[in-house]
Amino acid sequence: MLEDNSRCSPQYTDSLPDFGTGKKRGTFWIHTYGCQMNVHDSEIYSGQLRRLGLVPAETPEQADVILLNTCSVREKAEEKLFSELGRLRRLRELDEARRQAGKEPVRIGVTGCIAQQRGEQIIERESSVDFVLGTRAIRALPSVLDALADGQEAQVVTEDFIDFDASDADRLDRVRAFVTIMEGCNNYCSFCIVPTTRGLEVYRTGDEIIDEVRGLSIRGYREVTLLGQNVNSWTDKSTGLDFPGLLRRLDEELAGDIAGVERVRFLTSHPKDLSPALIEEMGRCSKIAKHLHLPVQSGSDRILQEMNRHYTRRDYLQIVERLRGTVEGVGLSTDLIVGFPGETDKDFEATLELIREVDYDSFYSFEYSPRPDTAALSYDDTLPPEIKRQRLVELQELQRDIQARKNREWEGQTVEVLVDSFSRKTRDDVSGRTSSNQIVNFTGDRKLIGILVDVEITRSGAHSLYGEIRSHSR
Ligand code: SAM
Ligand code: SF4
Ligand code: F3S
Repeated sequence: MLEDNSRCSPQYTDSLPDFGTGKKRGTFWIHTYGCQMNVHDSEIYSGQLRRLGLVPAETPEQADVILLNTCSVREKAEEKLFSELGRLRRLRELDEARRQAGKEPVRIGVTGCIAQQRGEQIIERESSVDFVLGTRAIRALPSVLDALADGQEAQVVTEDFIDFDASDADRLDRVRAFVTIMEGCNNYCSFCIVPTTRGLEVYRTGDEIIDEVRGLSIRGYREVTLLGQNVNSWTDKSTGLDFPGLLRRLDEELAGDIAGVERVRFLTSHPKDLSPALIEEMGRCSKIAKHLHLPVQSGSDRILQEMNRHYTRRDYLQIVERLRGTVEGVGLSTDLIVGFPGETDKDFEATLELIREVDYDSFYSFEYSPRPDTAALSYDDTLPPEIKRQRLVELQELQRDIQARKNREWEGQTVEVLVDSFSRKTRDDVSGRTSSNQIVNFTGDRKLIGILVDVEITRSGAHSLYGEIRSHSR
């Protein structure tokens, strides 16, 4: 699931930075692009900067350290980065005034997937960048800032310093937390750059994961999302524990907690590795959320093969059937790509048919974007952009109709909602999700955030539901 995740904070102190010792305070600003893995990496960057004595700034102009934590899954994301860097270039004009005021120059860093992929080239193209940190080098931030403070040249670190410990992460949310269970991906889907930007799979141990979730539960978090590009291939190399086994252990560990983690979610699942055992655990374990994000990418077998996905439409539909037969009330979402090289009208029609047949609760759809270092880059991509756009619109219209109908079916039902925030529109309302991942808004105050409540659904919208609180559960 992809987003453009901006992060700004209301706090700002105008004081001198001294990155090495953390004695003096400074400010930082992080802009996050891309998926949940990047959001969590930004939380870790933020935690490291806070330990150095820095606090979040309200705008990039007010910050002493700026990080652009990038995504390169589509071409557009790269364009966005360089236009943002172009805008930040003018901050260099402030360096002289900062020096005269006894401050160090502002430090501009590029991190994340474009950083890993492009490395030095970023600094060659945009000289205002002071440092580049790859996806497995996030822990190098303090030493890189020190080196710059010592007067060293621009820094580029793309080596592997993987460290799963997130105990100093500055988490954005007080109700829901991300927990990384693995890094990288071994799959090489022909359209996807992630195995290049995130490297091959490395797994965290089961004990470490359970310890982190346990710690979050004790600290009052109510929901965790286990993160990995393909969580179904996770395994603990020393004990042989597999992903369904990990879910079972977490469910057992969390059982009986009355104010801790109530729901465990996980992202993302690859259909080729999704085992019947996982579905069984989802049906059996009370703490495992009843929602599956299962990217299908296309409904055409020919295209799925060209995408190197290793499953057929039939395999996928069988998983969906088993899932719905085993996990009562399960919510299902997906990712789809339109306009993959060589996609014919017939292939696209097969995708539309699949969407009708599966009846997804929600989905994310993308126009195919050619990426470097991917197999599909050499495929004949002759489909005119207007056809790709038209297909995307058609797909989204179909899904909008399906979603509106499915949302209407919730009206009159009472559902259990974990309240996680104020609603986006007004602070008179709060917002939360059902176990199946439906967003529900209703009138309520701050005290409800972090609480499980029963809500009767009175009305539905295109993307969310509205209701009235009936009772607090816990
Ligand atoms: N690991 C997940 C999986 O197995 O599907 C997905 C991770 S990927 C970062 C998120 C989504 O971005 C993919 O599911 C796919 O739909 C989309 N995506 C990846 N590469 C793309 C490309 N070159 N063009 C358009 N969309 C792309
Ligand atoms: Fe990309 Fe495929 Fe890996 Fe997902 S499974 S990250 S789509 S290569
Ligand atoms: Fe995520 Fe984008 Fe990287 S989707 S893994 S931030 S390429």
